[in-house]
Amino acid sequence: MAKQLWNKGFEPDQLIENFTVGQDRELDLRLARYDVQGSMAHIKMLQKIGLLSQEELARLLPALQEIADSIERGEFVIEDGVEDVHSQVEFLLTSKLGDIGKKIHSGRSRNDQVLVDLKLFFRDELRTISKAVDKLFHRLQLLSEEHRDKLMPGYTHLQVAMPSSFGLWFGAYAESLTDDMQLVVAAYNIANQNPLGSAAGYGSSFPLDREMTTELLGFANPHYNVVAAQMSRGKTERAVASAVAAVASTLGHMAMDVCMWMCNNFAFVSFPDELTTGSSIMPHKKNPDVFEIMRGKCNRLQSLPNELTILTANLPLGYNRDLQLMKDIMFPATTSLVECLDMADFMLQHIRVKDNILDDPRYDYIFTVEDVNRLVLQGVPFRDAYKQVGMAVQNKTYRPTRTVSHTHLGSIGNPANKEIAAKMEELMGRVKGEE
Ligand code: ARG
Repeated sequence: MAKQLWNKGFEPDQLIENFTVGQDRELDLRLARYDVQGSMAHIKMLQKIGLLSQEELARLLPALQEIADSIERGEFVIEDGVEDVHSQVEFLLTSKLGDIGKKIHSGRSRNDQVLVDLKLFFRDELRTISKAVDKLFHRLQLLSEEHRDKLMPGYTHLQVAMPSSFGLWFGAYAESLTDDMQLVVAAYNIANQNPLGSAAGYGSSFPLDREMTTELLGFANPHYNVVAAQMSRGKTERAVASAVAAVASTLGHMAMDVCMWMCNNFAFVSFPDELTTGSSIMPHKKNPDVFEIMRGKCNRLQSLPNELTILTANLPLGYNRDLQLMKDIMFPATTSLVECLDMADFMLQHIRVKDNILDDPRYDYIFTVEDVNRLVLQGVPFRDAYKQVGMAVQNKTYRPTRTVSHTHLGSIGNPANKEIAAKMEELMGRVKGEE
């Protein structure tokens, strides 16, 4: 039996159906709970504006709740021949309630239905990402405090440069995540607007109460202009993708550092054996595969904005089916990011940091600026002090004093972790919703 909502008595070619439905039957399962949520809000609104009776609403709501329960139990499926989640929910309702089920689509289109599902979905995904970011953030801050006084070489051009510390290194990634959270918050604000009522993209002749559905779905405001609401498909995804790419860039960078610090030539950090991987031929190997996979995944995630931009570049105004393909790109991406964040948090719980790294004479020159500054504090003009130390290096007579005293805001002695925590707390407050 033909199950397309738009069926007019002929069977579409199977090849065409498979090609156009693509991965929707599987991917749309992640939208199912939001689809039901959107439908509940929509029919409450239809009853209010007189398009459904109180009795009809009273029969529809429990039937939708039943579907919602089956989704939570993991029993909901999109059957063969049914195009997508929107069709499946309507199909279940009409099978159960007959004509009443057929009424729920008044004043909406799958175009605004999928939009509202996606906005609710991304809103939740962004909250999930934020929580994972926050967890890793706190882990990094904790490590920053714990290893506050452990010095390490700071590099520029990958040449030893100046003293740094593990307090700074861990703390740097924590603060960097606060910058990424700014983008998460921006994406959240873009997603947190109600497109329902834009229907196929041009509104409806029914007096839809869009304020009511906005409130019922907990959106900050309607996406007012119906055309703008439709245009937000693509725009929302690109905003989310930028946020995901930003977090991924920070995490990927950190993963690279860990791979390098684990390298035997550095050996600044290590992990318990069971968290490393071996080689099939070299018996001694303890490889950082976790951080390599993380780096690779994070690099892939950074291509998301580009992929979406190319997919949606120059599409004509209004709905186009190309938009469906964004789900294929975005759904696995948010999951992958959270997986990487959680893995980073897990691994860092077990990180071991080497002590007294700077005692090794290979890092002697790291103290040259300290020694120049010490002379300056004794009254020697900077350029003369620089020359004096420079000549000692040149003549191989330089002996480092090995004392480091950095006290200014954000430096080794004062990494400002409290101030950074306050920034994160404020940002986290902006993505809080009722759970
Ligand atoms: N699966 C479709 C999508 O994700 C749902 C909307 C279908 N709308 C349409 N006009 N064919 O875009």
